[in-house]
Amino acid sequence: MTTIGFIGSGRIGSTVARLAVNAGHDVVLSNSRGPETLGDLVGELGSQARAAMSEEAAAAGELVVVTVPLSAVERVPAEPLRGKVVIDTCNYYPQRDGHVAALDDESTTTSELVQHHLAESKVVKGFNNINYLHLGALARPSGSPERSVLAMAGDVADAKARVASFYDSIGYDAYDVGPLAEGWRFQRDTPAYAGLYNGDTTGAWPPPDDSGRRVTAETLRENLAAAKRYRDL
Ligand SMILES: NC(=O)c1ccc[n+]([C@@H]2O[C@H](COP(=O)([O-])OP(=O)(O)OC[C@H]3O[C@@H](n4cnc5c(N)ncnc54)[C@H](OP(=O)(O)O)[C@@H]3O)[C@@H](O)[C@H]2O)c1
Repeated sequence: MTTIGFIGSGRIGSTVARLAVNAGHDVVLSNSRGPETLGDLVGELGSQARAAMSEEAAAAGELVVVTVPLSAVERVPAEPLRGKVVIDTCNYYPQRDGHVAALDDESTTTSELVQHHLAESKVVKGFNNINYLHLGALARPSGSPERSVLAMAGDVADAKARVASFYDSIGYDAYDVGPLAEGWRFQRDTPAYAGLYNGDTTGAWPPPDDSGRRVTAETLRENLAAAKRYRDL
């Protein structure tokens, strides 16, 4: 079992933490306001969970999930994450995050920006194209015919293997999309983002039409292939 650090413990962070604890991992949670504000979540998760400052969560995690608004990424502590595998869940919403020229002109991608900030870490893009409620509800044990795949992208093979193993432990098969530069294929508003649950992106659970809510490798492959750059939408 692994200690998972969390920079950000909101909707996605708390959902991944819950899945991780259920799988037997330890979790160290952090947010922007300080560990004392995470008492309820730690209480719910029990003895495998604790809260800390971001630097400490980063240092404690063997694997670290960065799950904050994109605008906060530059405040994620890089030093304690050196050499570590970091899962980046961030999406770019200009109305929330402010405009980033290199994302608007598509000369880079969100996870490449995160990798640039965390230059000595091994960044893997993951969890970004699934609603947090769906993420919590779709987890299935290994071998279940109802298991879904989760996309990931990254430049370092052993980091992706580590993330695939983590996905497996919390109830998902991994689907390797390729290097970070291919992460745009499952960014906001692509079919792999909006199409996961028959177009339901509201977070309603159960989804309005649950007939296709399991995400197969085939569905994801088709959606990735159908992805368009924002400039071509
Ligand atoms: N919601 C979804 O279903 C979903 C799905 C996939 C991907 N995403 C993406 O994943 C990221 C997180 O989404 P979310 O919905 O979980 O957001 P959220 O519920 O708003 O939670 C954001 C978390 O980040 C923390 N945070 C903000 N600035 C921080 C900083 N400088 N240092 C440490 N922690 C900081 C917040 O702490 P405080 O509360 O103390 O400020 C909060 O715990 C976003 O980029 C989002 O686009 C979301």
